Amino acid sequence: MSPGEQFLISRYAASELAGALLLGKAARKTKDPYLRSKYTWHCAEEARHAWLWMELLGETGTPAQEVHDETGDQYFRAVEKAQDDLDFLAFVHVYEMRVPFHFGMHLKKSNLSEPLRKLLHQLQLEEGSHLSWVADYLEEEQKKGNPRVAEALQMFGDLEDKTYRMDIKRLQMAGGDLKKLGDIIEQNLHFYTHPWKRFLTPNHAKEPTSVG
Ligand SMILES: [Fe+2]
Ligand SMILES: [Fe+2]
Repeated sequence: MSPGEQFLISRYAASELAGALLLGKAARKTKDPYLRSKYTWHCAEEARHAWLWMELLGETGTPAQEVHDETGDQYFRAVEKAQDDLDFLAFVHVYEMRVPFHFGMHLKKSNLSEPLRKLLHQLQLEEGSHLSWVADYLEEEQKKGNPRVAEALQMFGDLEDKTYRMDIKRLQMAGGDLKKLGDIIEQNLHFYTHPWKRFLTPNHAKEPTSVG
């Protein structure tokens, strides 16, 4: 495994763990028992994903590196803008919508080791259940006529898009394997349709939908 791959896996582990911690905090904070249960399950899921990435590094004899948001401009920072459960779910949803796309891009990279390819594929599939429960909740809220669903998704969606594009540039600037991945993503970015945008269509909630 190249140093670039090792860094990426450490970064995936750090992101999954950061996601788990945010979900765990949300479970402690919410007043809604249904959400408390769902956040707790989701927290456990992301913590398990972080552990799987760390195990993968361990198998190759590489300890997980410390990875932080040194510049303070990565997407997770946007959680500070979430005022309530609805905002937080929109924040989670736009991020998780991107994950299967991103893993799909990583899978296009040549010379992936077999254990890495297998784990990317496994986690890409596992995102489905994460995506569906949040989408269902947002869908219900929108059906009740809550205009904040579209507003929150638009705000966090725009932020996610901006930070993801910055991440691509960072990968390209890092050179080597990271640049290769950055180039693959840039070339295929137009295939990503921002699926959360379906919530922005008026009367969308009255239409039959299928997610996850
Ligand atoms: Fe995950
Ligand atoms: Fe997830």
